[in-house]
Amino acid sequence: MHKSDILDPDRITAGLNTKYIGSKIIVYKSTSSTQAIAAEYAKNKANNGLVVFAEEQTSGRGRASNKWLTGKSDSLICSVVLTSCGIRPELLSLVYAVAVAETIGEDAKIKWPNDIILNGKKVAGILLEAKSHKSHIAYIVGIGINCHQKKKDFSAELQKAATSIDIETGSFADRILLAKRVLASVEHWLKTGEKTAAKVIDKWQELSIQLHHRVAVIYNRRKFTGNCIGIDPEKGLIVQLDTGSVRFFDAAHTTIAKMP
Ligand code: BTN
Repeated sequence: MHKSDILDPDRITAGLNTKYIGSKIIVYKSTSSTQAIAAEYAKNKANNGLVVFAEEQTSGRGRASNKWLTGKSDSLICSVVLTSCGIRPELLSLVYAVAVAETIGEDAKIKWPNDIILNGKKVAGILLEAKSHKSHIAYIVGIGINCHQKKKDFSAELQKAATSIDIETGSFADRILLAKRVLASVEHWLKTGEKTAAKVIDKWQELSIQLHHRVAVIYNRRKFTGNCIGIDPEKGLIVQLDTGSVRFFDAAHTTIAKMP
């Protein structure tokens, strides 16, 4: 690990130009999951914008009950607490996908609903969880960006599908810089989404690897194929099926499958 890359709250905060995302930053050397810690903070409405980072997670969680495995200090791992959110929760998933893709750089793309893809492989994932409290609904948004993994760090199966910023750029990613960028970008896209949902949807569509391409999805254990013709924040992926009809596939019940 390069010394300059150690996550340090003061270094992340220095020059951070945000109003509330990152207003409080907590860094763990090791924790089970930043989602669990952030969920505790999210019980208090005053913690809007608080961010929990970790160098290491021992029980990192991914979407659909998957594990999210990382090595010590090889990723940018954080969970953002939102306790008063002015945008529809459905749009939140798109906001974060756009913000994380923008953080990684102009070659980063989005695979619906919110996998971030770099040169055809997954480089980052986003986990959106909501908890209802007496005074507020809290959204806890977990972000995991692969930074310093080498090819051999991924299992043989994952090597085909996963990558890291270092692998793709050939240089050592600066996690402090990425942390600053992701917080600023999240705040920017949250504000944008509060004013105009269409701007977020347009940006999401611009970054989508699926829009206007053939897709195969599994919905309630059935496979559907067709052309992706759009995205609706509430109803999900819009697909013109090979059978001719147009169908919506919501993120909660749909997974993207390999094209036959
Ligand atoms: C996915 O399956 O693509 C989502 C992965 C989300 C991983 C992040 S890492 C920080 C936060 N803590 C967790 O346990 N998971 C999320």
